Amino acid sequence: MEGVLNLPPAPTLTDFLTVLTGAGVSAESGIRTFRDAGGLWESHRLEEVASPPAFARDPELVWRFYKARWENASRARPNPAHEALAAMGAALAGRFVLITQNVDGLHQCAGSAGVLDMHGSLHRCRCTRCDTHYSMRNVDLTPALPACPACGGLLRPDIVWFGEMPHYLDEIEVALRRTTLFLVAGTSGVVYPAAQFVQMARRNGASAIGVNLEPPDNIACFDTFIQGRAGVVLPQLAAAWLDADKS
Ligand code: APR
Repeated sequence: MEGVLNLPPAPTLTDFLTVLTGAGVSAESGIRTFRDAGGLWESHRLEEVASPPAFARDPELVWRFYKARWENASRARPNPAHEALAAMGAALAGRFVLITQNVDGLHQCAGSAGVLDMHGSLHRCRCTRCDTHYSMRNVDLTPALPACPACGGLLRPDIVWFGEMPHYLDEIEVALRRTTLFLVAGTSGVVYPAAQFVQMARRNGASAIGVNLEPPDNIACFDTFIQGRAGVVLPQLAAAWLDADKS
């Protein structure tokens, strides 16, 4: 049954809440996930569009793929899941960290601050020669191979591709050591290192709550698993927890 009757206990004043999100949190904003039926990896072999060798082999194909994803993400709006997490972050400021595997920028658009977007962002690109970083809307994307305004080098999407090191791993490790409550939403739990964050948090004594449409691959790691849509469950959690936090 979608939604929850018995919510996990609210964070207390001494809790530190860390949240990890995946593509399922943006599904209700119309952003395709990766591994669901009709997901992105069904229509593109990730080896063709999401790795350094793919970019070296066919940079125009990779740029077509990411320009389309950027345009789609730019049209999308945050859904109640993003808004619920922004409200949790505002209420628990200083005791809250949001880590996302998503690159669509919707958490930031919903008002979440300090988002650790560990897989990069569709809204940014960077120069392969001088490493200058740009907002996508500030560079000329009409050429098949966009060039760096500063040095003329080839630009690339600021996305962490397969085989590359995710961003913020040190900050994430520090957060997971402080975490007493770890909430994971909208991820299949099959891509590392994100899929092991729940074990790291548990080893540090945190309790772990999973929210997902389908049971994730690492469901055994969670104390509580709530099956349902993030856009339904997370607002319920936020309402219950933030009311409790006020009392
Ligand atoms: N609410 C909650 N969960 C949902 C919803 C929803 N509305 N819709 C789909 N889901 C769940 C699916 O059941 C699935 O388990 O979201 C999960 C999405 O899983 P993936 O498509 O594998 O996406 P994700 O886990 O974020 O992938 C991780 O893999 O390809 C790389 O870099 C890419 O960041 C991505 C990483």
